[in-house]
Amino acid sequence: MNSKNTRKLITNIGALLQVEQNVWVEGKDLDVVPHIYDAYLLIEGEFIKDYGSISSCPREYDELIDAKGGWVLPTFCDSHTHIVFAGSRENEYVQRILGASYEEIAAKGGGILNSAKWLQQASEEELLLGAFARAQEVISYGTGAIEIKSGYGLTVESELKMLRVIQRLKSLLPIPVKATFLGAHAIPIEYQTDRAGYISLIINEMLPRVAEERLADYCDVFCDKGFFTPQETELILEAAWKYGLKPKIHANELDFSGGVQVGVKMQALSVDHLECSGQEEIDILKGSSTIPVFLPGTSFFLNIPYAPAKKFQEAGLGFALASDYNPGSSPSGNMKFIQTLACLYMHITPEAALNATTINGAYAMEVASELGSISRGKMANLILTKPIPSLAYMSYAYTQNIIMHVFLKGEIFVPQAVG
Ligand code: NIG
Ligand code: FE
Repeated sequence: MNSKNTRKLITNIGALLQVEQNVWVEGKDLDVVPHIYDAYLLIEGEFIKDYGSISSCPREYDELIDAKGGWVLPTFCDSHTHIVFAGSRENEYVQRILGASYEEIAAKGGGILNSAKWLQQASEEELLLGAFARAQEVISYGTGAIEIKSGYGLTVESELKMLRVIQRLKSLLPIPVKATFLGAHAIPIEYQTDRAGYISLIINEMLPRVAEERLADYCDVFCDKGFFTPQETELILEAAWKYGLKPKIHANELDFSGGVQVGVKMQALSVDHLECSGQEEIDILKGSSTIPVFLPGTSFFLNIPYAPAKKFQEAGLGFALASDYNPGSSPSGNMKFIQTLACLYMHITPEAALNATTINGAYAMEVASELGSISRGKMANLILTKPIPSLAYMSYAYTQNIIMHVFLKGEIFVPQAVG
């Protein structure tokens, strides 16, 4: 264990990335990553104490780590995941290969409702083991903070069960975790002819319990065609605000759903997905403090259009990128691969992808004061790579593991065996 004042010096760093990149990055600035070549970094206890050019490297330290030319950057902040789930949905993946669409599968009771059926039968312990293993895996890929949603419970008890698992993950995992209540993920089968009844269950039974047990930081709604309307979304978010739960919503994945408009109106921290968005959504987001979060893993896996990230950037907006790790539409939480997809298919630069997965991701889950950049006093959650020739190499070498070590609170992360 790190003693409070242990000083670890990382020397021979090929390049130190995201130096003092401390505020949400927008527009042209997305293409800039502040860096120092040939650098050192000093960790004291759990925090970044100092950094600079190797020529001014300190001589006093307790432990020396030779980076051997590897690069150092902040860990990724993945602000949108659903890693608590039971079972897997590769049969739907095969159905889609054979021609069915995500919406057709969902309309026949598959999709989210399939995951809900399995989750309702799973014990809290089983769910915890599965999610813990997924979290360990994504940490080894460089994720150093994660947001996790409920939404596969869809009954009072099962939503609470999911949130309790997330609460236990908060104390078991070595990284910051944010919990989001997503009771409004789908209308359960037993309420298909009584939407108002389910919305009332969310507002009058789920939300009070979630608040009473302090199980969530945020409230989410899947505001889209075939799921929840903007009016229903507003009702739920209004109720959530009464308990101090800020909105973070799913919007415009399947259609121009009005989700961005209701998100901004309800002062959402983020509006996520936005595959279907254009000038109107851009205009509404301008000047607001709501950050768009794009999820290219979903577009890739469902073979649907990518969000027009480049247009957002050209309009001067900022955005975050997240994995959307879930069993249906994005069964991966590899943020380096998310960068590759964003570069190739959203036509953003590797620099923009790095900003969007670090400091902007941190903003989208309210951890930017402690994570997301290399700054004195921030938590020492870092990626040390093997020697690489450039920043672009990271997302270019898209299946190569370029990570030498992940540091969490100044300690090298060693995955824990599960079970
Ligand atoms: O973000 N869009 C809604 N929810 C998830 C999908 C969940 C699922 O298919 O299980 C998403 O893509
Ligand atoms: Fe999602």
